[in-house]
Amino acid sequence: MLMNRTADQPEPNPLREGLATRPVPQPCSIVIFGATGDLAHRKLVPALYNVAADGELPPAVTIVGFARRKKSDDEFRRDLEEATRKFSRQPVRDEIWKTFAQSIFYHQSEFGDESGYKALVERLDEIDKTHGTRGNRLFYFAAGPDQFEPILKHLKAAGLNQTCKGSWVRVIVEKPFGTDLASARELNRIIHNSFTEEQTYRIDHFLGKETAQNILVLRFANAIFAPLWNTHYIDHVQITAAETLGVGTRAGYYERAGALRDMVQNHLLQLLCLTAMEPPTDLSADSIRDEKIKVVRSLRRWSRNEIAANVVRGQYAKGAIHGDPVLGYRQEENVNPDSQTDTFVALRLFIDNWRWADVPIYMRVGKRLPKSATEISIHFKKAPAVLFNKDLHDLNVLVIRIQPDEGISLRIHAKVPGTSFHIEPVKMDFHYGTSFGKASPEAYERLLLDAMSGDATLFARRDEVEQAWAFIDPIEQAWHAKKDVPELFFYPAGSWGPEAADDLLARDGRAWRRL
Ligand code: BG6
Repeated sequence: MLMNRTADQPEPNPLREGLATRPVPQPCSIVIFGATGDLAHRKLVPALYNVAADGELPPAVTIVGFARRKKSDDEFRRDLEEATRKFSRQPVRDEIWKTFAQSIFYHQSEFGDESGYKALVERLDEIDKTHGTRGNRLFYFAAGPDQFEPILKHLKAAGLNQTCKGSWVRVIVEKPFGTDLASARELNRIIHNSFTEEQTYRIDHFLGKETAQNILVLRFANAIFAPLWNTHYIDHVQITAAETLGVGTRAGYYERAGALRDMVQNHLLQLLCLTAMEPPTDLSADSIRDEKIKVVRSLRRWSRNEIAANVVRGQYAKGAIHGDPVLGYRQEENVNPDSQTDTFVALRLFIDNWRWADVPIYMRVGKRLPKSATEISIHFKKAPAVLFNKDLHDLNVLVIRIQPDEGISLRIHAKVPGTSFHIEPVKMDFHYGTSFGKASPEAYERLLLDAMSGDATLFARRDEVEQAWAFIDPIEQAWHAKKDVPELFFYPAGSWGPEAADDLLARDGRAWRRL
């Protein structure tokens, strides 16, 4: 039901909307640079198909694939159809695909070829006329990071960074966003030669995950957790992102990245920020990001010696996943047989502010672990050791399951039925699937719609990315130093990482949660 605003209700303030009431996605052409690559086929186009199938995509949205290979529009559409049938969240319906495919085009050009961008201008102008895309452009950088600079330069030279008559232009930049603070700053400088910060949307797909967004709702829409969410009641926090997958075909990138850069600098620090931030003044993109960045700024920095004691790096050796033998990292295709790359990292962090003083935050992330699961667990302090608690060792734990089986559970103690006072831990459990009866959208669905709507809340701001690198850099430097380099521990594929990661918690009298 539509409600009319009464005279005493304030005008909606767009700055205060953000997450709560997303503005409507607007007509536009989405130009994907690197459109023949993996990301476009596995994630972007299937995501756009799904929002179209759910009726959330405005009809006047077109996809223009920009890439080097020769291809006709029809060939490109056929490739994307095949990929979407394989990777789509919901089965592809022929009649929906047919309409959707009419808005897909292919533009062949080298990334550094000026004439290709001139032709792009004409093509987009033509599409505006035929498809009603109103001069709005969303440039998606899905090509390799070494292509970002030429693409940006040519977009600017062709005037494609300019807006006219109420239209907008935005860029979405995929990770990796630099490899350290200096390169991230340089990339930001290059982007800002052509586009403003307001036009720049840096993707961190973890922020688009339904349960990651729900962290803010859990914390700030429920009164019961807020009084407990601090050093007085929380014993420690654990964040785990485990994957059964190995490096696959991505050694070219991963050899230079490693788990710390690939996952911790972005995804895990973002989850930590949502868990630890102060309540924002409103739900606008900047209010939320202003609070998130304070968390990263408050992370305790270590000296060289402290790094070895607080960060464990590991690499998978051969082993088995679900009973099937798998290679060690050094034996994988295109991996240096002496590679020092980290495929596992565990960290013991502290946020030095009033809320989190002395609460250890343990994070671990790894490839070729026994299970694929991402979760945040809040371990509350023990109840006083009187009455029932003398022999109880389990803590109350609130678990936010990011994936799979998205949901939230709370472990409490309960009396086992019977004549004695035998107490066991039990779980109160909320599952997205059963409570709402519908599947969560994929992260890219939400994020693409947000970018089309001009809502940057779930994208990383310039200072967030740079601060995160400022935290990560000293660790990478210690690992690549000439002497006293912290050890690289090997773990069998299919195990929960090196023993040193368990020791990190055991030293504090704690243990990783069993997932
Ligand atoms: C990507 C990393 O950003 O996230 C990959 O580059 C990782 O190495 C992936 O596998 C994990 O994302 P998800 O959504 O599959 O958990």
